[in-house]
Formats: sequence, C-alpha cells, structure tokens
Amino acid sequence: MRDGLPDYICACGRSYPPAAARWRCECGGPLDLAPVPLTWTPDLDDDTLWRYAGALVLPDLGLTLGEGLTPLIRATSDGEPGLLLKVEYASPTGSFKDRGAVMLVTLARLLGAGRVVADSSGNAGTAVAAYAARAGLRAEIFVPEGTSGKKLQQIRGHGAEVTVVQGSREDTAAAAAARVEETGAFYASHVYNPYFHDGVKTYALEIFERLGGTAPATLVLPAGNGTLVIGAYLGFAALRDAGLVERVPRIVAVQAERCAPVAAAYAAGEREVRPVRPGPTVAEGIAIAAPVRGPRVLEIVRETGGAVVTVTEDEIAAAHAALAARGLWVEPTGAVAYAAARRPLPGAAPGETVVAPLCGSGLKASL
Ligand SMILES: Cc1ncc(COP(=O)(O)O)c(C=O)c1O
Ligand SMILES: [Zn+2]
Repeated sequence: MRDGLPDYICACGRSYPPAAARWRCECGGPLDLAPVPLTWTPDLDDDTLWRYAGALVLPDLGLTLGEGLTPLIRATSDGEPGLLLKVEYASPTGSFKDRGAVMLVTLARLLGAGRVVADSSGNAGTAVAAYAARAGLRAEIFVPEGTSGKKLQQIRGHGAEVTVVQGSREDTAAAAAARVEETGAFYASHVYNPYFHDGVKTYALEIFERLGGTAPATLVLPAGNGTLVIGAYLGFAALRDAGLVERVPRIVAVQAERCAPVAAAYAAGEREVRPVRPGPTVAEGIAIAAPVRGPRVLEIVRETGGAVVTVTEDEIAAAHAALAARGLWVEPTGAVAYAAARRPLPGAAPGETVVAPLCGSGLKASL
C-alpha cells in the first residue's frame, strides 16, 4: 500500500507498491490490484464516471473530459427484444478506452510522472494522449503500421509524439516497453496496468445503475487484450461481493475469426493461450495475436458460464451495415459484439436481457 493505493499483485505471489517504473512482475507476468471492497455511494450530481468514486481505487483529482455515463439504448424498437446497446462511442475520444485512460493518467499524476508512454492499435493511444494533454503531461504513443489515419491525426492533435512501428502489434508493445526502460517514463499500458481495468469497471456499475440495481443475464463483449471483459467482470464481481447482485452476468467474449487465439484455447478446453498467426481483419481494435491476459479472459468466461465465440468478416460487415441503417455509426471493431449478439447466443434464454457495447466511433475508421 502506498498513499492509500492498493498494491500490485501477481499470480506468482509477489506484490509491489505502485511505482511509475513498475509495469509487470519480475516473473514477467501481468499485475493485478489487491481487491478493495466496493462502496456503492454514487454521487448523483456527478455526470462523469467519478460519480462512482466510492467504488474506485484512485482518488478523484478532478481530471475528467466527461467520460462515462454512456447511453444504454434498445437495439431496435421491434425485434431483438432483450438486447441493449451501450453507446461507448459517445465517450470523449470516441471509445470506451477513456474509462481506463482517465485512471492511468490520474495515477501518473499521483506518482509524479511528467511523461507517459503507451502502445495501442489506436483507441487506447488516443485516449491516453487526450487525458495526458488535459493533465499537462507529455505523451509518446507507439502504434503499429496500418493504424487508421484518423486515429493518428487525433493522437497528434492532442500533442502526443507518435512512433509508427514497422511490425506487428506485439512489436509495437516491445518498442514501447523498451522506451519505458530507457527513459523511466510512466507506462500507461491498458494491457499491463491494472488501474486501467479499475476504470473500465464503471462500464458494469453504469449498467447496474441504469437497470435499476440489477444485473443483465448476459454481457457480450469484444475481446482483443480483454480489458473490457476483465473490467466488466471486476465491476459485477465487486457488486456481487457487496451483496448487491446475486451473480456476475454470463460473459460471452467475441473475437474476429481471423485473429482468435482465445477462442481457439476455449474450444480446445485449454487454460493457456497460444499465439496465432492472424489473417487480415477489419476489426483492427481486437486483432491481438498474443494476448497477455488471455488466460484471465478464459477464466472469467468459464467462471460466469459464458463462452468465447468468433465472428466472420462478413458478419462484422453485415452488423456494421445493420447498425448504420438504424442510425448507429461505429468503427468496424465496434460492430463485433453486435455481430455476435444478434445471433442466438450459447446458453441464452429467449428474451433475456443482453447488453453489448458499441465500443468505437465510425468517425475514426470505416470499412
Ligand atoms: C473499438 C474497440 N473495441 C474493442 C476493443 C477491445 O479491447 P481489448 O483489446 O481490451 O479487448 C478495442 C481495443 O482497442 C477497441 O478499440
Ligand atoms: Zn509474478
């Protein structure tokens, strides 16, 4: 514990007080946060995710761009009766990553860092760049080649330095980690830093509040690195542990068929996730061939009685078009969860409440 902040803990048993230079365990594994019991005292006058400050591990330092409290709407006025869509692209930088980025930059400020480094396929980097700008911190964002031009423009527009890495998403992460080791900058990693998950937890808290203090039966969530799966799980698990809901909703994680390492491990009944050689997919935001927290996503899906499913490029395109025809304009990755949710879901009862996010804006990338 440092300044009231929970320690980083690793599955190997080691733990560390939060420090700018600590981004993974000495064993190489990713870090989590020692659990903190949830206090459900939303501040109804606060229209940002800081309304849940009582349930968050970081103190509210006043850093906000108005993130959180995204709309929850019906998919259609007629069909798909139980399906609700959470409009995450209404977030300040156009994706749900704002929920985690506001925490990482708040933590960077608490730890006295002047400079942050992040790597991303686009949206997380954009979010970190925006919040760093808001907080007056310098940011350097590493992106893989092929990242959408609009996302690059947005990152640069917020004053961040952009380094385009010729190579894969994994090469990009390695380049960012090398810069962190070399400069001692704070690694604002949505993959490694568990404070990111604590912010994403608010996705669940908002659904709980909007559904009148209940949990939906199923959450359908896209999974690349799994931050939304892990964050949503942590939120409902905290509500369960506080006695506010009976159980965590069934979590159905969705991957693009052309890059589906977690789905392959799930189908094979394995606990580890083997890297795949990805094919080209329009779902750039979830094209993660070697997800560091893949085993955790598997655990969550199995514990909640969910599944890992895949969607084809054609299904993503059809879902994208169906959303657009109803006035909803998402980036291709933002159509992935809906592509799965509009099919019969494994184990779902007809008419049960299902929530799927529209997680990224179509103004950033299109088909
Ligand atoms: C629009 C969008 N949806 C979903 C995801 C998936 O998030 P994760 O990689 O944390 O599973 C991302 C990640 O970049 C994204 O940009
Ligand atoms: Zn460890």
